[in-house]
Amino acid sequence: MTDDNTDEMIHLLVTGGAGFIGTNFIRHALSLRPDWFITNLDALTYAGNSANFNDLPQALASRHKFIHGDIRDASLLDQLFSEHEISAVVHFAAESHVDRSILGPEAFVETNITGTFRLLEASLKAWRVRGKPEGFRFLHVSTDEVYGSLGPQGYFTEQTPYEPSSPYSASKAASDHFVKAYFRTYGLPGIVTNSSNNFGPYQFPEKLIPLMILNIVEQKPLPVYGDGKNVRDWLYVLDHCSALIKVLEEGRPGETYNIGGGAERQNIDIVHLLCDLLDSRLGRSGEQSSQRLVTFVPDRPGHDRRYAIDCTKIKRELGWEPEHRFDQALEATVEWYLDHMQWVESIRSGEYRKWIERQYGIKEEVGN
Ligand code: NAD
Ligand code: DAU
Repeated sequence: MTDDNTDEMIHLLVTGGAGFIGTNFIRHALSLRPDWFITNLDALTYAGNSANFNDLPQALASRHKFIHGDIRDASLLDQLFSEHEISAVVHFAAESHVDRSILGPEAFVETNITGTFRLLEASLKAWRVRGKPEGFRFLHVSTDEVYGSLGPQGYFTEQTPYEPSSPYSASKAASDHFVKAYFRTYGLPGIVTNSSNNFGPYQFPEKLIPLMILNIVEQKPLPVYGDGKNVRDWLYVLDHCSALIKVLEEGRPGETYNIGGGAERQNIDIVHLLCDLLDSRLGRSGEQSSQRLVTFVPDRPGHDRRYAIDCTKIKRELGWEPEHRFDQALEATVEWYLDHMQWVESIRSGEYRKWIERQYGIKEEVGN
């Protein structure tokens, strides 16, 4: 990455920075890198919350600028690139929930494919105008879901062929291909990362772990898809963020890096673990035990059976390792949600309630 000549700062354009991973990334990066200035471009869909930065200390807040806007807006992108000497784009903005992509795939095509294309076009234009600085990076944050589904054995490597199952993963696969094509065709220094399932603070409670935490707290049914034996490879979000910083600073343009937590668990085991953690925290036992809330529901269509990441490459080339142990990080995540019920309430808009009703047939009561 190159320095911003005007103020000696390294200027990052982060997209989707008001969502789950983007928020964690910005908070983490601002505190670790005092010479980074971050412009955070986010459309504030149901999944984005600009209030996630309200409690930033002044020393960090002064290096963060929030812009409410859409990555599909080409003229806004051109304006941002002309106003600032952007050293790197870190691209999180996406529609990210598989179940939503099944019920309404078009938004995924719009943001994940068209949006990524517009961002690449604007980046390419600015990179050329500035004389193609070598240090420029376009870091595309993608998912292991592009590789499809594993059987009981084996791991996804960077060589695994793409075989996406859902409209979400198909749209992410398309966006990955665009980033690689812009490197091969135009030389734009793009890098793609494919990570496994993240968990941690600020995750929207439509995803497995926060949904289960909140349903346990509120003693609502815990909807487990199919037989509950699908496996995910869990990665604590701060470990993902430190991997992204490594890739940004030391990764090679044109390359792909897989990022995984090495913590494979069946969904049903995660749900049982959360029941136990919360029961001991909330003093529930016997007939009150939360295990009674576990409810098997019809499977997600096209549900991938197992994800597991081989992250030898990022470990060997960049020296990255996940630092957090799964069980401790899960406990910390539970604590974070219990301590941030106000945050949960603030993001449970009318739209959220309609979604829960449509997906699970559970009527959410206002003020619950
Ligand atoms: P998220 O849904 O929590 O956040 C997405 C953010 O993007 C939101 O703030 C939203 O407002 C914003 N956004 C959506 N459409 C936009 C648009 N058109 N213009 C500007 N902003 C827009 O998602 P997340 O879980 O933080 O995931 C971030 C990225 O990481 C995504 O690209 C996702 O595919 C990828 N990823 C996520 C995981 C995971 O486990 N959550 C794992 C691997 C990869
Ligand atoms: O692997 C990375 C991907 O992980 C990211 O690219 C996605 O953005 C992110 O949403 C996540 O996708 P999953 O579909 O794996 O995550 P989700 O939390 O939706 O589901 C995790 C597992 O739990 C999956 O096997 C489906 C199951 N599940 C999920 C929900 C919401 C249930 O059994 N019940 C539920 O209510």
